[in-house]
Amino acid sequence: MEKAVVTLDNVSYQYEESDQFALQDVSFDIYEGEWLAIVGHNGSGKSTMAKLLNGLQFPQKGEITVCGLKLNEDTVWKIRALIGMVFQNPDNQFVGTTVQDDVAFGLENHGVERDIMIHRVKDSLEKVKMGQFLNQEPHHLSGGQKQRVAIASVLALRPSIIILDEATSMLDPRGREEVLETVRLLKEEKILTVISITHDLEEAAKADRMIVMNKGQVYCEGTPEEIFSMDEELIRLGLDIPFPVKMGKAFREKGIELSKQYLSEEELVTELWTSYFNK
Ligand SMILES: Nc1ncnc2c1ncn2[C@@H]1O[C@H](COP(=O)(O)OP(=O)(O)OP(=O)(O)O)[C@@H](O)[C@H]1O
Ligand SMILES: [Mg+2]
Repeated sequence: MEKAVVTLDNVSYQYEESDQFALQDVSFDIYEGEWLAIVGHNGSGKSTMAKLLNGLQFPQKGEITVCGLKLNEDTVWKIRALIGMVFQNPDNQFVGTTVQDDVAFGLENHGVERDIMIHRVKDSLEKVKMGQFLNQEPHHLSGGQKQRVAIASVLALRPSIIILDEATSMLDPRGREEVLETVRLLKEEKILTVISITHDLEEAAKADRMIVMNKGQVYCEGTPEEIFSMDEELIRLGLDIPFPVKMGKAFREKGIELSKQYLSEEELVTELWTSYFNK
């Protein structure tokens, strides 16, 4: 049985200035060690959910539990220590003048002892493959490198969960790949439970499980294979279909049958190559 690290139970949230619920009766579990991608059209409530999970705002209805703690004003600081957040804009996340200062900043705020701090800064930066950049000035880094440092700053605080809210959306393809590879490794080493909120379907395809939000509600959940086989329905929900899935469909329409639905271009190319072109 998988262990739930986060539970949302009938959560609703309405912004003061708004006459509609940004989230309405949202219930789901997030399991220990999984990579969950949350997708949905603009305004479907994804960032609102991230803010609720981190206790930046509190639901008017329903309950959120994180690592066994019910989220309320008494537990919010404990829960914030359990959840790290990385946001969209790599340039808005730096406070230090060097990479190591930046990662150390959060630790200093938590009063972590100097020896432990030095070790944790180095260790966190090594985990995101930025160990060579300790004394670099952040503005000299690429977008992907900056986001990896932002992830290291989160790791240094040893949270159980990391939320990436569109953390790759301002990056070029290479930066995006670097960040996703980092996330994949962290997940593989069982360091963190990962929640990635994303418009990037190739990113969502790498997750273990997906939740599709629609107008403030959970529309459906499933593995990326299950979700992307919904096809036209996703387009009606304001989402797209990953390129390899579209290609697979186009091949089938031309009478070229594939053995499965591919979510990665490499796998699709391999099957085409071995089954059709290499005979
Ligand atoms: N500070 C705010 N005040 C009032 N309404 C807000 C506020 N922030 C978000 N909303 C509204 O709440 C709803 C959900 O917004 P939210 O930012 O959670 O969506 P999202 O899924 O993250 O969208 P995007 O994909 O554009 O980031 C939208 O209707 C939005 O207009
Ligand atoms: Mg958002």
